[in-house]
Formats: sequence, structure tokens, C-alpha cells
Amino acid sequence: MVGKKLARQDSNQGLKAAVISLKSVSSDWVSNALQNYFDSVESVNLKKLEVYFNAKGGDILYEGQPLTSFDCVYIRGSYKHVQLLASTSSLLKDCYQPLSPESFVLAHDKVLTHMVLQQHSVPMPKTYIVASVKSARKILKKLHYPIIAKFPKGTQGKGVLVADTYASASSIIDALEQVKQPFLLQEFIDNDGVDYRLIVAGDKVIAAMERLAAPGELRSNIHAGGVGKAFEPSHDMERIAVKACKAIKADLCAVDLLKTPLGPVVIEVNISPGLQGITMATGIDVADRIAKFLHKKTIEFKNSVKNREFKKVLQDLDKANSSHELIANIVLRGNRILLPEAVTKYLSFSENEEVVIKLLQDEIVIKRL
Ligand SMILES: Nc1ncnc2c1ncn2[C@@H]1O[C@H](COP(=O)(O)OP(=O)(O)O)[C@@H](O)[C@H]1O
Ligand SMILES: [Mg+2]
Repeated sequence: MVGKKLARQDSNQGLKAAVISLKSVSSDWVSNALQNYFDSVESVNLKKLEVYFNAKGGDILYEGQPLTSFDCVYIRGSYKHVQLLASTSSLLKDCYQPLSPESFVLAHDKVLTHMVLQQHSVPMPKTYIVASVKSARKILKKLHYPIIAKFPKGTQGKGVLVADTYASASSIIDALEQVKQPFLLQEFIDNDGVDYRLIVAGDKVIAAMERLAAPGELRSNIHAGGVGKAFEPSHDMERIAVKACKAIKADLCAVDLLKTPLGPVVIEVNISPGLQGITMATGIDVADRIAKFLHKKTIEFKNSVKNREFKKVLQDLDKANSSHELIANIVLRGNRILLPEAVTKYLSFSENEEVVIKLLQDEIVIKRL
């Protein structure tokens, strides 16, 4: 309630927010928290959206009607809907979005995520991508064991396989080939079943937890039985997480990291993180922090649009008020004076437009009617 009053006092703009999602508990938490900062909040069901586009533009329909406009839209959803998530995001105009259309494509594919992390020099485990089982076997012969094989698209630890020997890795990739499942190979980071999840909002980490895998389990995901507890990340870890978030072109995401003797490495960036586990582990109202961040960024976005519009008005005024001088030679076409092209362009005169031509001693004035 305090948030509500404060936010409304400094904004007072009738701000409208929407959460487009699959209506998970976490998405509902964010929608509810947004109500404390925005004047109206709509929960839009991703499954009821339809997107149309052609070269000239596009439309987003919600339950058959054009989607209303918002000042802030936070789109959440799983990798299964990546095309809909990215195209909806790219068609939404004039509103703040914490995720860019590209971020959906990049974050929902671990190969692409690692590719951009590499481009931005974000530390990560050594990762191998191959086109065939034959090339994978060549690599497997050179690696130290255990190693990780991972599905590029998948979550909650379900697509992560660990192989302790060349023999087990070799049969894993045979099985993946049989079911036509693409995979990446990755150096195994010895981490005693502990990984770190940091939620990044802009340049800051708003919540962090350490997750310990269930006994006998190597994956630390809460859905795989991992247990989370509050964690104070090092400055280095925070810096790397913020960099990873920027690399995938997002303002808001969760970054999963592992510790190595050479420093933290990023294993995943999640743009639709679950909030229950981290909220319970840390005691932080993560949904509220996200809502507060979205509100702040929306105000900044609105102000930057206003500044741009104001600048344009000033430029137009300048255009209207000032006169411009051009030094040129008279060009005649027959007995007629031909004005330089720049004059026509600057004043946007069109053919047959009515004008008044005033002739003074040494001057011609042409005025639009
Ligand atoms: N390279 C790795 N070395 C050791 N453990 C890993 C590695 N990659 C993933 N894991 C373990 O598997 C879990 C899930 O991996 P992650 O890449 O975050 O995929 P997702 O969470 O989408 O299933 C991690 O939290 C971590 O416990
Ligand atoms: Mg993960």
C-alpha cells in the first residue's frame, strides 16, 4: 500500500501495465505486485493471443479483438512458445518492455545464449557444438570426465545429462541421435551440487540464492529436488550476471552460475524465472522488486519519449521561425526562374500548390496560401 501511494504521487500519469504469460503462479505474483505501482494491470493469457504481420506492420489480437495499448508489457512464457513471445514483443510499440524480441530467441536456446555470452566475454564452461555423432565422438575422446550433454531447449534440469566415462557419453549421444534430439557438450564444473541463481534487474541483482542438489543428484534445480537458501553474491558474480543479462538484450532475467577456482561461470540465462523458490529461500518479496523496477523503467521510458517529442517540436519551431539563406546563381528555363532543388525540398512544396508571389525591388517572396 505504501508503494501504491508513493508511486502514484511521483508518476500521476495513469500508467497501464500488462503481464502476458501462461498464467503461472509467478506471473500472477508479478501482476498482483504491479497493481501497487500502476493504475491498471491486465493479465493477458499468452494462449489467447494471435499475431498477424506482413511487410507493412502487424496486429496482435487477444480473444479476437485488437490488444489494447499499455505503457509497460512484461512477456513471460516457456521455450515452446518462443515464436509467439518474440513476434508479440516485436509488434508492441510505444511501451516499455524489460525483454527485447531478440532476448526470447537468445535465452530460450542454450547454444545461442552461449554464443552471445562468448561475444560479450562472459565466462562460461567450455562448450562444444557439433553437426554429427561422428564429430561428437572425436571430441569425446579428448575430454576429461565427467562431461555434460545438454538439450539446447529445456528447463528445470530435465535436459541435462552427465556422463562419467567415454563409454557412457558415447551411448548417450547415440541415444540422442536416435530420437533426433540436438545437444551440446559441456565441460563438467565440479561444484558439489551447488549452483547460484541471481535475479538481475537493470544494473542490479535484486535477489540471489544458492541451490544445493538433492542427495545423489548433480542438478541443483529446485524442480529436481534442490534446496535453496539466501546467498550474498560477490561483486564479481554480480558483475558477470548483469553482463550476461545485457548480452541477451534483456533488462530483467535470472542468471544461473557455477563457481570454479578461476571465478564464476554462467550456465544459463532464464527470462521467465519461477519466483516461488527464490522468494521462499531469501524472504525477499521478489515480485514486488520486479514491479518496482518495471515502474521505474516505464517512467524513464515515458520521459524519454516526451523529451524526444519536445525536441521535435523545438526543431519544428526553429524551422518555422527562422529564415534560411542560400547563395545560388539564377538558373533560367526559357524565361522562367528555376529555384534550387533544396528550396523545394526544405519547404516541401508540391506541384500546383497555390502561392502568392510578392515582387519587391531586389527581392522575391513566395508565400504559401
Ligand atoms: N557444465 C556443468 N557442470 C556441472 N553442472 C552443471 C553444468 N551445467 C548444468 N549443471 C547442473 O544442471 C543444472 C541445470 O542446468 P542448466 O544449464 O541451468 O539448465 P536448466 O536449468 O535449464 O535445466 C544446473 O543448475 C547445475 O546444477
Ligand atoms: Mg537452470
